[in-house]
Amino acid sequence: MLSRPRRLRKNPIVREMVAETRLSKDMFIYPYFIVPGTGVKHAIDAMPGVHHFSIDTLIQDVENGLKYGINKIMLFGVGDEKSEDARSACHDHSLVPTAVRALKQQFGDDLYVVTDVCVCSYTTHGHCGIMHDDYVQNDATVEVIAKMALTHAQAGADLLAPSDMMDGRILAIRNLLDSNGYVNTGIMSHATKFASAYYGPFREAADCAPSKGDRKAYQMDFRNGKEALREALIDESEGADILMVKPALAYLDVIADLKQQCDVPIACYNVSGEFAMIKAAAEKGWIDEQKVVMETMYAFARAGASVITTYHIKDIVENNWL
Ligand code: PBG
Ligand code: ZN
Repeated sequence: MLSRPRRLRKNPIVREMVAETRLSKDMFIYPYFIVPGTGVKHAIDAMPGVHHFSIDTLIQDVENGLKYGINKIMLFGVGDEKSEDARSACHDHSLVPTAVRALKQQFGDDLYVVTDVCVCSYTTHGHCGIMHDDYVQNDATVEVIAKMALTHAQAGADLLAPSDMMDGRILAIRNLLDSNGYVNTGIMSHATKFASAYYGPFREAADCAPSKGDRKAYQMDFRNGKEALREALIDESEGADILMVKPALAYLDVIADLKQQCDVPIACYNVSGEFAMIKAAAEKGWIDEQKVVMETMYAFARAGASVITTYHIKDIVENNWL
C-alpha cells in the first residue's frame, strides 16, 4: 500500500503535530444584551447561561470575562424607546452608546468593543429599517444606519457590525465615519446574512421580532451561494474591514467560498438557534456538550473563519476546553 494516512493518527503527539486547524481565545467575540435599569441580571429562556444585563452588572460580568481572556464583546441594546423612525437608535444617551462609554472608561483598550448596528430593536414594527407602504425603504434606512454607526463610534466603539442588510450601507457608514474623523473605527459587515429560522431565541432576547411579515425582502435567501459571494464582494469594495457570515453552521460552504475569494478576514456568527440546539440536547444527556461545541468551533475555523462570534465562549474558557 502506498498510502497509509492512519500513520499520522497513531497517537496524540503525531495528531497534534499534523493538526491543520488551531483555535485560540483571540478568535472569539462574546455577545451581550443590555437592558435599562440597575442590578439587572435576567436569564434568557432559550439561551441557557446568557443574560440580560443592565450597565452596572454588565461591567461586573465583563470584568470577570476579562480574567478568562474574553476581551472582545458585541453589544445589543434592548429596551430603548421604539418609534416608526427608530430615532432612539441614534441618541447618544441610548443604552449602547452609554454602555460603550462606561466600558471604555472602566477598561480602556483592554477591552475591544463591537456594536451591533441595526434598528429592529428601535422600531415599533420590529423590522430592520424604515417602513413605507409595507416595504423596508433601503436608502432612508441607510441614512439612519449610518447615523447610528457614527453615534457608536463617537461613544468609543472599536468595531461596528451593521446587521441590517440594506444595499450601500457600508459605503455610507465609511463615508460618514471618515468625514467625522473616525478613520480608525472599523466595520465588520454582516455581509451575508440569511433570512434564517435559527434567529428564533435571539428575537425573544432582543425584542426585535417583526410584528408582521418576515425579513426575506432584505436578508438573503438561504438557497443562494453565488449571491452570498456577490454580497461579500460588494461590501469588501465598499470598505468593510471584516466580512461576516450569519448563521454559521448551516453555511460552512459560504464561509469557505468567501475565505477563498475575498481578501479581508472572514468572521462567522454562531447564532442563538444553533446555540440553543446544542444546549437543549446536552441538557437531555443526548450529546456530549464539550465535544460537540469544540467540534463545531473547529468546523468554523476549518471552513475559514478567523473570527467567531459565539455564546459558547464563556463555557469554553471557564471550563478550559481549548
Ligand atoms: C437583527 C439581528 C438578529 C440577530 C442579530 N441581529 C436577528 C434577526 O435578524 O432577526 C440574530 C443573532 C442570533 O440569533 O444570535 N438585526
Ligand atoms: Zn435588525
